[in-house]
Amino acid sequence: MLKSMAEMTLREAIGGRCSVRGYSAENLERHTIEALLAAAVRAPTAMHAEPWLFVVVQDLVKLKRLSDCVKAALAKDRQLHPAHHHPDIFLQPDFNVFYDAGTLVIICANSKSSFAQADGWLAAENLMLFAHSIQLGTCVIGSAVEVLNMPEMKVEFNIPSASMVIAPIIVGKPRGETGTSARKAPQVLAWFS
Ligand SMILES: Cc1cc2nc3c(=O)[nH]c(=O)nc-3n(C[C@H](O)[C@H](O)[C@H](O)COP(=O)(O)O)c2cc1C
Repeated sequence: MLKSMAEMTLREAIGGRCSVRGYSAENLERHTIEALLAAAVRAPTAMHAEPWLFVVVQDLVKLKRLSDCVKAALAKDRQLHPAHHHPDIFLQPDFNVFYDAGTLVIICANSKSSFAQADGWLAAENLMLFAHSIQLGTCVIGSAVEVLNMPEMKVEFNIPSASMVIAPIIVGKPRGETGTSARKAPQVLAWFS
């Protein structure tokens, strides 16, 4: 059982966050998403560049269309490169790569530099931890990155062509049980003291 936002410590949020792949139909309100974005932009940013840009998609028709495009791209890739591994679930007609979440936040950057990508991922983690702390689920949908970076998709989602899509993240109220997955212990290569 998740504690409320006021009760959850950062250690608990870090320890309890997990990727959520089942969502209730209840939609998120604008102020909730604004709070997530405010947390995202508190991330560290190389040379204080703040390169992040955000697209919020709550249009279910758009989300379904995008999911279908991602699945089609993965199916094509599977045909062209049988060695590439894509889980079979992607081929199922009813499978939605966004797990029927009602909100997708696409984190982009106004540059294609490696620091901009780092900043985008740091913002992503801030967003996901804060979401968890207010009892919302999230999941990075990496499978959508390539398709979202296609020129025609950038036009469709109002992303400038010189920018890049870094992290599409679904957000919503979790449906059913969620649970953390195990991690290996940190592997320390050396400890000079
Ligand atoms: C870069 C990146 C891409 C990911 N892409 C997907 C994805 O396309 N679909 C999905 O269901 N999960 C995706 N995930 C979630 C991972 O599967 C998940 O983080 C990992 O299994 C660890 O589980 P946890 O997040 O519950 O701790 C992605 C995670 C990262 C960091």
